[in-house]
Amino acid sequence: MATTTPPVGSSAKPTVRELYDSMSYGPAPEGDTPVREWIALHDGTFGHYIGGQWVAGSDHFDVLEPATGKPLARVAQGTAADVDAAVAAARAALPAWQALDDHARARWLYALARGIQKHSRHFAVLETLDNGKPIRETRDIDIPLVARHFYHHAGWAQLLSSEFPGHHAYGVVGQVIPWNFPLLMLAWKVAPALAAGNTVVLKPAEYTPLTAIRFAELVHEIGLPAGVFNLVTGDGATGAAIVAHENVDKIAFTGSTEVGRAIRVATAGTGKGLSLELGGKSPFIVFEDADLDSVVEGVVDAIWFNQGQVCCAGSRLLVQEGVAERLHAKLRERMERLRVGSPLDKSVDMGAIVAPVQLDRIRALCQQGVDEGATCWQPSWATPTEGWFHPPTLFTDVAPSASIAQVEIFGPVLVSMTFRTPEEAVALANNTPFGLAASVWSENINLALDIAPKLKSGVVWINSSNLFDAAAGFGGYRESGFGREGGREGMWEYLKPIKAHEAAPLPVIAAGATSHTEAPAGEASPGLPAIDRTPKLFIGGKQARPDSGYSLAVRSLSGRTVGEVGEGNRKDIRNAVEAASAAGAWAKLSGHQRAQILYYLAENLSARADEFAQRIVAMTGDPLAAGASEVDAAISRLFTYAAWADKHDGAVHDVPLRGVALAMHEPIGVVGVACPDPYPLLGFVSLVAPLMATGNRTVVIPSERFPLAATDFYSVLETSDVPAGVVNIVTGARDSLVRTLADHDDVGAVWYYGSQAGAAAVEKASAANLKRTWTEWTGREWLDPRAAEGREFLRRAVQVKNIWIPYGE
Ligand code: NAI
Repeated sequence: MATTTPPVGSSAKPTVRELYDSMSYGPAPEGDTPVREWIALHDGTFGHYIGGQWVAGSDHFDVLEPATGKPLARVAQGTAADVDAAVAAARAALPAWQALDDHARARWLYALARGIQKHSRHFAVLETLDNGKPIRETRDIDIPLVARHFYHHAGWAQLLSSEFPGHHAYGVVGQVIPWNFPLLMLAWKVAPALAAGNTVVLKPAEYTPLTAIRFAELVHEIGLPAGVFNLVTGDGATGAAIVAHENVDKIAFTGSTEVGRAIRVATAGTGKGLSLELGGKSPFIVFEDADLDSVVEGVVDAIWFNQGQVCCAGSRLLVQEGVAERLHAKLRERMERLRVGSPLDKSVDMGAIVAPVQLDRIRALCQQGVDEGATCWQPSWATPTEGWFHPPTLFTDVAPSASIAQVEIFGPVLVSMTFRTPEEAVALANNTPFGLAASVWSENINLALDIAPKLKSGVVWINSSNLFDAAAGFGGYRESGFGREGGREGMWEYLKPIKAHEAAPLPVIAAGATSHTEAPAGEASPGLPAIDRTPKLFIGGKQARPDSGYSLAVRSLSGRTVGEVGEGNRKDIRNAVEAASAAGAWAKLSGHQRAQILYYLAENLSARADEFAQRIVAMTGDPLAAGASEVDAAISRLFTYAAWADKHDGAVHDVPLRGVALAMHEPIGVVGVACPDPYPLLGFVSLVAPLMATGNRTVVIPSERFPLAATDFYSVLETSDVPAGVVNIVTGARDSLVRTLADHDDVGAVWYYGSQAGAAAVEKASAANLKRTWTEWTGREWLDPRAAEGREFLRRAVQVKNIWIPYGE
């Protein structure tokens, strides 16, 4: 008998999959009434928070809501007088804040964390209104991370004396933050600063000041002592006034590389501490054995999170040729299904761009990409017409030199390029002046872990992207800035060694030391000319005549000529940098191998101790015993860094991830060193040895006044198996030679011991490629190991790379 029941599988009923595909999203708006009421309660107008009081401020300007383009509130434009008042309040609050014990400061940070949590939805909605980012992100990422930062740093406050002995806070810290993660950047800055015992003057970005204002209210509500946290709103001019203020001890900045450079120049020679977290053009590297479906979700997190307005956004997709087409197809399919719209809608993936100027910039760069011949792909649907929206965008067929492959777009725009081999991937990845973050995708753990150390970036995420936590440091290499935020490494940015504070001014040594020579050096036997032993420069493991063809006479304090040295010039410095750059194999030696060489140096110096002591006293006029103790101290110092070479470990951070975050200490690369005049041998060894121990190569300008001890040292280097190029020595006029080092793009850091004017020149010049600088113009007790060796030097000699490695299927 025939049946009317349709056979299984040919049902007219849709399958579950078909049902899902046919369902459209209903609106899922987050309520914003309480937040809008809070704004209305203040008549939509806010002032500054200074010394525990709200100050009306002047020249108020509109803050607009990116999703609608309509005014949301009005805030004051901080003037120089407002900044002055805020700095004075922070200064006045400092003694009492520092007099608190660790536990008391921990309690205040804990109270802030609790306060954030208690008002978390208020903060999340306010952030979404002000910035335009989806509520899903503010609610689930930004605000929980803010609370996490305050909790984590309540912990550091509690442990401050025991974990950071011999250090204390900078004092008054000026902090300038951007608009892309407004409250999170506040937390990254304020939490460690307060935990370390500083007081703060903070300026939020002009586009997004509202959560910082709400935070100041919270500060007031919990009763944080007046002046410990001060808020001044305004634009770049207000930021510049904070940076320039003479009573600010340290500046912490996050924002564009351009402004970071301006701040480096503005603070040069002032002695202010500085940390800069700047832009990026981070590579997202996909090997052909990667799980492509996971990669697609990783890309969504990397470049469409926060509309791509993320300093560490994975904006350069580098994909191995064999899977490029397949990955692009999957990405287009996924992009077609992303949802862009009201950021208050809980099921929206991407919200609005922060400001029209930013939207125009993104559009202009996209147009440039098209004009330069790349293929642009965007989903078929249209973005809302009200407010400032930009669709997710994929560029393929991009040349590595194209503008869109080089410039930080800071929008939801992914630029894809292909590579063939791992070497090519690394070369492409590093083909940018930035160095903030990178993602590496491969199912082959050996390959991923081989690539991670080769990438010039402060953070590497393996098979993941945009992971952050308060326990792991975050910050860049190269033009992405310097300094770390988060974890133990971030705390150091807000602390200073007590010694540096109390140091006496550098002893003044009579001038007129070196001059073009006219007198013969050395002592002649009767009737015979002296055998000349003018030391040459030491470049690439070889003695080299100075390019200038001139020598300089070295005179003792009493004016007697005690020898001659070559007069180095810019060309010699450039040759030395080239030799140092070529000696990269030094960084790959094990700590044990570097230790062996440092021990060998100590051994060979010890064998010639008397000769070195006499050379020192011939120049300084000190008693022989003083020269002997300087040599002994130099030998001991070499031992210290031989000891450290295999012990200056990184850390494994406990982050909320099924996996590990490895904080690796990596050498900076080529470091320029200008040595102090006092202690001509010990000063040289104290600076060069920690750099050698950590895998750096150096170009060293010895004491200008007393260079002979250092020049004699090259023969010790020659006999101690130090590979060519690891230590290069160029004698001559310190301040003009170091200027060439500070200008040089292949030099990653400059350590300068000299005059304040010289330090200012070094710091100013360093802004070009944002090299790290360590300058001192006060004296150091070079004989005292507590002041002149150890962790402080080692920390300056490395940069921390955090490698996040998830595990599990
Ligand atoms: P910006 O660097 O001008 O602004 C960041 C902060 O610095 C703001 O608070 C601003 O008021 C302040 N500021 C501006 N000029 C200053 C000065 N001379 N002295 C002291 N403070 C100053 O960034 P902007 O103009 O908002 O964005 C421009 C581009 O910068 C973006 O397209 C993006 O490429 C990049 N950017 C990078 C960020 C990052 O997290 N790395 C964050 C924001 C922007």
